Amino acid sequence: MDTLAVEVVAVDTLNPLIRRCTLRAADGAALPGFTAGAHVRVQVTLPDGRSDWRHYSLVCTTPATDTTAPQPHYTIAVRREDAGRGGSRWMHGLQAGQRITIEPPKNDFPLGTHAAHAVLVAGGIGITPLASMAAARRAAGLPVRLVYAGRSRGLMAFLPELQDLLGDALQVHADEERGAPLDVAALLDACGADDQLYVCGPRVMLDAVLAAAAARGWPRERVHFELFTTPVAAAGDQPIELVLAQSGQQFTVPADQSILDCLIAHGCDPLFDCQRGECGVCSTAVIEGTPDHRDAVLSDAEKASGKVIQICVSRARSARLVLDL
Ligand code: FES
Repeated sequence: MDTLAVEVVAVDTLNPLIRRCTLRAADGAALPGFTAGAHVRVQVTLPDGRSDWRHYSLVCTTPATDTTAPQPHYTIAVRREDAGRGGSRWMHGLQAGQRITIEPPKNDFPLGTHAAHAVLVAGGIGITPLASMAAARRAAGLPVRLVYAGRSRGLMAFLPELQDLLGDALQVHADEERGAPLDVAALLDACGADDQLYVCGPRVMLDAVLAAAAARGWPRERVHFELFTTPVAAAGDQPIELVLAQSGQQFTVPADQSILDCLIAHGCDPLFDCQRGECGVCSTAVIEGTPDHRDAVLSDAEKASGKVIQICVSRARSARLVLDL
């Protein structure tokens, strides 16, 4: 993949957890255009000095901007994840004038041009791709609603811009005001028969929406989603004794490392893309052992079969895992 050298133009604190970062090409040229829902991968430095990549959606809240044309700058927003591996903390340390490396925009979360409503459901920092979608739907004169949920208004980003953009089509749900999380069942029941849902937020929100949609018999294609979490170790995670049946290689996957990262660190070349358990690219056949599924790709039946695993996020319930690699 080509990379782009960019310079940080400005870093603004939007709230105690979220910073907005404006980037321009280091050589002053225009940056490639993008479609709503697109992201860029940013090369970050982890606390142990290793380089890694983090994915941030490109934000545009103004329908007058044609984002598909070459852009003078990109805007991203970064939530600091104190329990993460250090990428977001490094991003929060960026200063104006600093040069960093990104990959050109890529869109794994495309927005439709359907005539029925696009119902955008954002949880926390998951607002970033959906803000661009709201602006794109407005620009195209297509119906859109945005439901933006978070713990408190003080921890949400872009509220004034979204209010200007959407008016009554913006519904803000602050848990601390309502005393309860977003009522996903009521949200789905209020949708029209042809409305399409676009969901971006934490895993718990996505699971609730997918379960409510399935309970109502919605076809899976009506719910478009992007997870907005990077996988973090869960309490009780244990190392895995990993065996690759085809090559005969054996590794120990530490409790705080994904199977995918372990393979890459050992010079293997596994297929992957999203690294968040939602694209399906890293799907791998299981020959022995019990997967601990943490993805949003496999059906319940596939998970129950134990025959396949998404190695970017899932782990093992058994101490040993033999994969068809
Ligand atoms: S890389 Fe996308 S599901 Fe694993």
